[in-house]
Amino acid sequence: GLKIVTIGGGSSYTPEFVEGLINRYDELPVRELWLVDIPAGKEKLEIVGSLARRMVSKAGVPMTIHLALDREEALKDADFVTTQMRVGQLKARIQDERLPIKYGMIGQETNGGGGLFKGLRTIPVLLEIAEDMQRLCPDAWLINFTNPAGMVTEALLRYSKHSKVVGVCNLPINTKMTIARLLGVEVASVDIRFAGLNHMVYGLDVTVDGVSVLDEVLELMGDEDKQLSMKNIAPLPWNPDFLKALGVIPCPYHRYFYKTSEILEKQLEEFKTGTTRAEVVQRLEDELFELYKNEDLDVKPSQLQERGGAYYSDAACNVISSIFNDKGDVQTLNVRNDGSITGIPDESAVEVNCIVTKEGPKPIHIGELPVAVSGLVQQIKSFERTAAEAAVSGSYEKALLAMTINPLVTSDSRAKPLLDELLDVHREFLPSF
Ligand code: G6P
Ligand code: MN
Repeated sequence: GLKIVTIGGGSSYTPEFVEGLINRYDELPVRELWLVDIPAGKEKLEIVGSLARRMVSKAGVPMTIHLALDREEALKDADFVTTQMRVGQLKARIQDERLPIKYGMIGQETNGGGGLFKGLRTIPVLLEIAEDMQRLCPDAWLINFTNPAGMVTEALLRYSKHSKVVGVCNLPINTKMTIARLLGVEVASVDIRFAGLNHMVYGLDVTVDGVSVLDEVLELMGDEDKQLSMKNIAPLPWNPDFLKALGVIPCPYHRYFYKTSEILEKQLEEFKTGTTRAEVVQRLEDELFELYKNEDLDVKPSQLQERGGAYYSDAACNVISSIFNDKGDVQTLNVRNDGSITGIPDESAVEVNCIVTKEGPKPIHIGELPVAVSGLVQQIKSFERTAAEAAVSGSYEKALLAMTINPLVTSDSRAKPLLDELLDVHREFLPSF
């Protein structure tokens, strides 16, 4: 049987993952699921762990749930390690989202100044985990969901010896499901040629049963009631003429780049009313934990679907199952570019369609990205690389550089005070700065 270790196991998202494992037990017989968290997260870990045990026993699946505060004990002989922890928890996310707004810039957990700091806090921890894996389970795959997943994967690929690494996001799979629903066709008949970076991915083409419906999809995305979005991103409608001119499907996060002023306006309002996404999520999470405490609950509650990460367990379980079962199917994952997208270094992380076998995911060749999008992708890649370098070196200068070259940071004279203030509030989670 398989042993899976989930770091950040006390997360409110865990029931989503457990449900995914239960549903796939026949093809993916996980005998041991180890939920690991830090001592400060012990109470949440126990609440989530008990719910996971009730879910497993209700489903009648012989999976043992272990709870651990000792990461090394848990990692020993693991087959797969998933990471979903949030360094500094939601309190840190609130700062990441609020401080940029205070300086008149987009506040977002994976973009702009906030995204930079989520990366600076997270990358050193992920590198430590990868190092532990080299000692304790060198053959295990590290499946990372912790954001910013693109920047984190970039850092792991460049700075860790552990090469069995893949970054996962629910956005591609959600997009496929939404498009299928809007077109009124089966999800299995839809294929999207995804390429780009995490939260910066484009659908270069979309087919139903092998026939391109790209133009139709672009057209329907211009319709106010037919928005492709996620729970965490306001579904502001796209300009239909712009979509047509762009010629590829933007992802929900592209709104931050192509609709910066409208989003900023909305965020200024949220800043004043205490309804930034992080604050909304904090309340949602308090509610979820109240539900989880109820001993009668033995399934994933529907309220969890209100989180942006809905269906992330499908993305996670699919990649694990395809590696384990040597399936050779296509999934959109964050991996080493290895020549897939022209102009991006081989060793950099990209989010592209991959063939997933027991050797892991291998990117499908894409070639040149359309000129309409290649510049922005390159700029974000520069940002991610510089940010990863800053995280590893603890260099103030690199951090300032990363902050200032991010396209959502609108001025060098605001970048520096924003950087200083974020460094100050996050000090305890940034030991190398
Ligand atoms: C999307 C992204 C995830 C992100 C989530 C945030 O699903 O793909 O990477 O974590 O949204 O959702 P939240 O409910 O935490 O705002
Ligand atoms: Mn994501």
